[in-house]
Amino acid sequence: MSEVRVAGQKLVVEPGANLLDALQSAGLPVASSCRAGHCQTCLVRSESEAVPASARAGLSAAQQQAGWLLSCQCTVAADLEVQLLDPSRDATPATVHSVDRLAPSLVRLRLVAQRPMRFAPAQHLTIWLNDRLARPYSIASLASDPWLEFHIRVHPHGVFSQAISRVEAGETVHLGAASGHLQFDTQWLDVPLLLLARGSGLAPLQALARDALDRGHRQGIALWHWHSDADNGCYLGDALLELQHANPSLVLQFRHASQLSQDLKTLRIASRRTVALAAGSPSFVEQLRRPLFMAGLPGRQIIDEAFATSKA
Ligand code: FES
Repeated sequence: MSEVRVAGQKLVVEPGANLLDALQSAGLPVASSCRAGHCQTCLVRSESEAVPASARAGLSAAQQQAGWLLSCQCTVAADLEVQLLDPSRDATPATVHSVDRLAPSLVRLRLVAQRPMRFAPAQHLTIWLNDRLARPYSIASLASDPWLEFHIRVHPHGVFSQAISRVEAGETVHLGAASGHLQFDTQWLDVPLLLLARGSGLAPLQALARDALDRGHRQGIALWHWHSDADNGCYLGDALLELQHANPSLVLQFRHASQLSQDLKTLRIASRRTVALAAGSPSFVEQLRRPLFMAGLPGRQIIDEAFATSKA
C-alpha cells in the first residue's frame, strides 16, 4: 500500500491507484472534467520524484517547475505528498462582465481577468466557481477584445452550467492557465483553412478565424457550422455574416446537423496544403477523420478538439 499525504490527511491507497480517484474518494475538493489529460481541471501539486512523467505531460515548463501535475494521469506507485489547488490562490481572478443567451440552451459569458493572462484564441482554460466546481471551456475571444468570452451549453441537470448561467455581473470567478493545441499558427498565413464546428464547437473556431484574419491570413477560410434544432440556426449567424462582409475570403456554411453525413460525403478541399481544424463532441470529431483523410488531407493537417462528453 502507498500513502498519500494531503490536506492534513494520510490516505492509504492500493499501489497503482489513480491519484484523482483517491483524492475524490476521500471527499477532497479536486475538480475534474475530461479525465484524459487534456483539460487541466484536475491539477494538484507535488514535488515528489514518484510522480510519473506522464502526469506532467502537456503542462508548460513553468507549471512543471512549480510542481503541478494532472491527478487524472497520475498512478500512485509510492508514497506521495500532494498539495491541492486553491483557485483563490493559484488561479487568476476574473470579474463577470455579462451573461446573456445566444440560444435557448447556450449562454455567452464575458469575463474581465483581474491580471494579465497569456492565451491564444481557441485555446481552452478552466473556469472555477469554487474549489469543487470547475469546467474547461474554449476561448471565443481575441486578445484585443475587452473581455474573455465563452459559449456555455446549459444542460438541464448540469450543476456547473446551471450555476454559471446564473452568475451576475460583478461576481468573481477564477481562471486556470490557457492550454490546448487549437490555435492559429502564423505558418498558415498562405494556407487555406477548413474550419468544421458542431454546436458550441463554433466558439473556438470563429475565434480562430477572426484571429487568422486579424493577422493577415491570405488564403480562403471555409467555416462550416452544423447546428441542432435547439439552437434555431447558427447562433452567431449575424456576426459571422458581418465578418464575411468585411472579409470576402471567408466562406460560411450554416447547416443543420441532419445534413452532416451528406455534407461529409461531398466534402472537397481547396488544396492539398489545406489545414482542417475541427471542434465539437467526440463523435463529431471522430466522424470527420475518415472523410478528411479520403479528401486528401494527411493526419498532420487535421487538428481537432473534442469537448468533454459529460453534461456538467
Ligand atoms: S480531468 Fe485531468 S486533465 Fe482533464
